[in-house]
Amino acid sequence: MTAPAGPILEVRGAVKAFDGLLAVAGASFDVERGSITALIGPNGAGKTTMFDLLSGFGRPDAGTIRLAGRDIAGMAPYRIANLGLVRTFQLTRVLAGMSVMDNMLLAARNQPGEHLAALILSPGRSRAAEAAARESAIGLLATFGLAAKAGDYAGALSGGQRKLLEIARALMTGPSIVLLDEPMAGVNPTLGRDILDHIAALRSARGTTFLFVEHDMDVVMTRADKVIVMAQGRVIATGTPAGIRADPAVVEAYLGTPHAVAP
Ligand SMILES: Nc1ncnc2c1ncn2[C@@H]1O[C@H](COP(=O)(O)OP(=O)(O)OP(=O)(O)O)[C@@H](O)[C@H]1O
Ligand SMILES: [Mg+2]
Repeated sequence: MTAPAGPILEVRGAVKAFDGLLAVAGASFDVERGSITALIGPNGAGKTTMFDLLSGFGRPDAGTIRLAGRDIAGMAPYRIANLGLVRTFQLTRVLAGMSVMDNMLLAARNQPGEHLAALILSPGRSRAAEAAARESAIGLLATFGLAAKAGDYAGALSGGQRKLLEIARALMTGPSIVLLDEPMAGVNPTLGRDILDHIAALRSARGTTFLFVEHDMDVVMTRADKVIVMAQGRVIATGTPAGIRADPAVVEAYLGTPHAVAP
């Protein structure tokens, strides 16, 4: 199978306002297929709002968002997920009262209508699908060091483990692109490095594209192929980590913020 050409994600002139405040103010950028791309910018730059627009959790007021050439702006999150784009949240949203395994299995089933219809029309095939989902859940939990926790309540996991679960869960649908909103925040450095290693390994093994928001410049510089810089709702620079670091507009955007770009 030949890989389709062109960027996996193309954003042009995206706008999102909240009560007159332009959280995203005409942002345009591409994400290359198979890349590990960092989305950076000072607090309030619009990074999480951009993720909401990309993943269907917010509807842009203007602009186009194309996923593998198809316009997805304003689509429901589950439809976008079915087209191959999934995201994790800045504050994890695992279901604390459910087991780790059930969190994983639920992710494989987030397709309203399809599942119920399948159950009624062909229960045998549905059971096979369930078994396949369980098998891929076991594999992913092993990858993320959570195999021993499969039967535990997700609420009993540490903050770092919940992040891992959220990422593992996002991978259940075999996405082509995963958006991670500060995957390392609140995670101890060792676990953080593990997460980054898993991301790099999945990119190599499956060709999965990753777009991640990150404030730690060392991580951005060493782990990202490409960097997109947002400030005040706009994309002010894109390029390689080295190129971004030397860009005066980027340095200026960070001045006076707690997340200064290291010289
Ligand atoms: N639901 C909302 N209602 C009103 N204002 C919002 C909403 N969501 C975000 N904003 C505002 O939009 C701007 C961009 O916020 P956003 O969360 O996208 O920034 P961010 O780049 O993710 O910041 P951080 O690095 O702190 O996570 C901020 O001024 C924020 O207060
Ligand atoms: Mg944010």
